[in-house]
Amino acid sequence: MIRIAPSILSANFAALGEEIRKVEEAGAHMLHVDVMDGHFVPNITIGPPVVRSVRKTTRLPLDVHLMISDPDKYIPAFIEAGSDMLTVHAEATVHLDRTLNFIRSQNAGVGVSINPATPLSAVHHVLGLVDMLLIMSVNPGFGGQPFIPYTVNKIRQARQIIEDHHYRCAIEVDGGIDIDTLPEVVQAGAEVLVAGSAIFHAPDPARKVKELLEIAARLGYHSV
Ligand code: DX5
Ligand code: ZN
Repeated sequence: MIRIAPSILSANFAALGEEIRKVEEAGAHMLHVDVMDGHFVPNITIGPPVVRSVRKTTRLPLDVHLMISDPDKYIPAFIEAGSDMLTVHAEATVHLDRTLNFIRSQNAGVGVSINPATPLSAVHHVLGLVDMLLIMSVNPGFGGQPFIPYTVNKIRQARQIIEDHHYRCAIEVDGGIDIDTLPEVVQAGAEVLVAGSAIFHAPDPARKVKELLEIAARLGYHSV
């Protein structure tokens, strides 16, 4: 099933509860929360206190995307704040296997992400340990950037590896997703679609969520 994960990065933070309510009522499946530290990526966003407040305002699962160096240090705080799924970048931790097992030991969903220029081989061996592989389709750091087309091939390759090994790992794609780019990523095998500016900068965010869901439902990836 295709799932839509609105990224609150592009929402109005002064009215976050209201923004979340709109996408939740429209049928979004989870909320994508972008955490940036000004070190791993050239931007700073939010930390555990905001996750804790968001947790109280929605029933949607919180898909927390850690774009931070040395994630192990902060994993317990983000889980304690109410994250359902924690995704770390393969580029941000030296001992990736240990980091992923650490998240698992804290009873949260486990995700691993790679930047556009990082080859799939960086995560091939850990795909059996994770619930989600997040393939970045922009360089992380900012909302509203254009989709990088060569990442579609990585989605296709990842789908093949996951099916060949019967891994239970969903493919998530993040960056530049809107009605024009959604079809190719879904057809390549992505199942969880993050969209920030497309949803929250739209005149009617709820309507945009429904539009993305309708297009995705018509296209759904069919494994062979
Ligand atoms: C980028 C973040 C994304 C961002 C996507 O570093 O990881 O989640 O919100 O924004 P859009 O959908 O505008 O490309
Ligand atoms: Zn993200």
